[in-house]
Amino acid sequence: MKHLLKMLDLSTEEIIEILDLADQLKYELKHGIPHPHLQGKTLGMIFQKASTRTRVSFETGMYQLGGQPLFLSANDLQIGRGEPVQDTARVLSRYLDGIMIRTFEQKEVEDLSTFGSIPIINGLTDFCHPCQILADLMTIREFKSTFDGLKVCYIGDGNNMANSLIVGCLKVGMAFSIACPEDYQPDQQVLDFAKDYDCFHMTTDPKEAAKGADVVITDVWASMGQEGEAEKRRIAFRGYQINDEIMALANKDAMVLHCLPAHREEEITTKVFEEHANEIFEEAENRLHAQKAVMVKLMK
Ligand code: CP
Ligand code: NVA
Repeated sequence: MKHLLKMLDLSTEEIIEILDLADQLKYELKHGIPHPHLQGKTLGMIFQKASTRTRVSFETGMYQLGGQPLFLSANDLQIGRGEPVQDTARVLSRYLDGIMIRTFEQKEVEDLSTFGSIPIINGLTDFCHPCQILADLMTIREFKSTFDGLKVCYIGDGNNMANSLIVGCLKVGMAFSIACPEDYQPDQQVLDFAKDYDCFHMTTDPKEAAKGADVVITDVWASMGQEGEAEKRRIAFRGYQINDEIMALANKDAMVLHCLPAHREEEITTKVFEEHANEIFEEAENRLHAQKAVMVKLMK
């Protein structure tokens, strides 16, 4: 494993290795055991979109590993003025030991990895959000002890979260049901991957998807960059909300995950959100541990 560009690139073994290391790093942090695996290393973090969790967890994680994080706002870089990604990649490769990038097009992330010579980590694109899904898988395993026999249900937009969740959950052996409106289905590349799995099911009916689920997940209806479509999407996604009615169809001890930020009373009710806040905020914390594991795997 040279980069973390998308879940499609990872083998099941690589995912499990990352999760095991993340559990270990979480244990070490909680018990005050130092783990300076990346002493003397620098991670550049390029942000073309806003972030709370990704920025702070990568930055803190890098410090905890003994390394140095460098926040690079796209507005301040020449990339924001049109310097080609090919050149940026070759220059930054000479200063840094790794790059985390949050941007719009997946191609930009793939190009960085092609033209640079250091590990590239995808911190979210319009296509996917692999760091988030590794934290989600870590959280599911933490609460449920296993992936075996579990069913995950995702209700909402077939966006970057859905694209990565489908691949990640299927790869570790969980069943996956997604309910999304017809015009908002996941990426074709992901559907092509999922079609070989009998335990993958796609529907337009949230109730059908929620039946017997052990994990219920949603995300915002309008992602970053889609702010102009917010009203249209509010109409299209009416009925695609995680609420008591949906939770009544899931298994009794079902957990709820949300990558955050959440829009209460849109994709999830305040009641369901608060009843499952324990899981949702552990999920947010696990970004830190999962990403530290990724950085150690790629940069040590
Ligand atoms: N879930 C997530 O990636 O959060 P941020 O946008 O705050 O980084
Ligand atoms: N789908 C959301 C996820 C935010 C973490 C977005 O892309 O804005």
